[in-house]
Amino acid sequence: MSVHKNKKQVTISTLNDMKLSGEKFACLTSYESTMTAKISEAGVEVVLVGDSLGMVIQGHDSTLPVQMDQLIYHLECVVRGNISSHVMADMPFMSYSTDDLGLDNAKKLMQAGANSIKIEGGAWITKMAKRLSDRGIPVCAHMGLTPQTINRLGGHYVQGRDPSQKEKIIKEAIDIEKAGAALLLLECVPGDLAQTITNELKIPVIGIGAGPNTDGQIMVIHDLLGISCLEKTPKFVKNFMEDADSIQSAISNYISEVKNATFPSKDHTFK
Ligand code: KIV
Repeated sequence: MSVHKNKKQVTISTLNDMKLSGEKFACLTSYESTMTAKISEAGVEVVLVGDSLGMVIQGHDSTLPVQMDQLIYHLECVVRGNISSHVMADMPFMSYSTDDLGLDNAKKLMQAGANSIKIEGGAWITKMAKRLSDRGIPVCAHMGLTPQTINRLGGHYVQGRDPSQKEKIIKEAIDIEKAGAALLLLECVPGDLAQTITNELKIPVIGIGAGPNTDGQIMVIHDLLGISCLEKTPKFVKNFMEDADSIQSAISNYISEVKNATFPSKDHTFK
């Protein structure tokens, strides 16, 4: 791996420059060292140590049981395997429910090697985004379908379909940018809403189930490899192993499709 160590590290500035130049970037989840090395070597710009690990690694039926020390363990594995990707770490359920908890847990993730942290929510995370950003921690706000609030949402439903919900998400996205968030991730929202927000914001917007017009795309690595643990495959998931003869070529094909905006296609986009 040492031969790659002089590859230029992807930073928030890299992602900002890519947004400005119109070059799309690819993101993938990873939870361990070897897979991270392959993902990073292939040229994926952002690796997310997501709390999806609760489902794909631990076998739970939601992300809620994931503990802070477990996230840190997987983050440390990922950091050891990383070559030049930007490593983002998820803040688990309730790990930022108060100001003090949020600051302390974000500190732990940054000290374990994260380059940014991701928090889920709407208006209520604006204050936390500001507190962390003011202290030099790049924050990615995760909006739309937020799996940590699955019990309030009542299921994995597309968010922002009706006009009032749409307006609410647009306002929250603008407010979070003003609060200092470095990135925004939109999950399971109609493609036109994601496009509007991407055009409106200066910060890079990452999509999953949000159509092809965001600045970056993210997928759970297990979904890309066609080994999703979900009973019903979500509409936005594509199995890249179907047309590939190795994991490396599946990852490379994913990157090419993201860069060319051919993924997600219309079939993988919500209206
Ligand atoms: O935890 C995760 O993997 C995520 C992605 C699905 C965006 O939040």
